[in-house]
Amino acid sequence: MKPDDDAGDGRRSDGGGARPRPWRVRVEPSGLAFDASADESLLEAAEKAGVELPSSCRNGTCRTCLCTLLEGSVRYLIAWPGLSAEEKQEGCILPCVAHAQSDAVIEQPWAMAASAAPR
Ligand code: FES
Repeated sequence: MKPDDDAGDGRRSDGGGARPRPWRVRVEPSGLAFDASADESLLEAAEKAGVELPSSCRNGTCRTCLCTLLEGSVRYLIAWPGLSAEEKQEGCILPCVAHAQSDAVIEQPWAMAASAAPR
């Protein structure tokens, strides 16, 4: 099995039985990208990689981080993130509580590299 082969469950594997590698998440329109493992929120993963996304409460209630999932899928560990059924249907996600389930593309016009973020 080659390094980027699918492990059979949709996750990428290194082929050696080691822990699956994280999902790749790209942010449009900036083109910034980061890796996100299943056990961290997209917001946490972005921050670790130096990608600043809007945020405030970090618990799925304020909607400051609201953005659109263009490709891929996410799951929520909290029972009812602050999104209506219609918003979910339209692809809206809350990165502070959303965990990647696949490679993904999100649309967040306010994303920026941490080094470019105002202090
Ligand atoms: S930061 Fe408040 S809902 Fe995501």
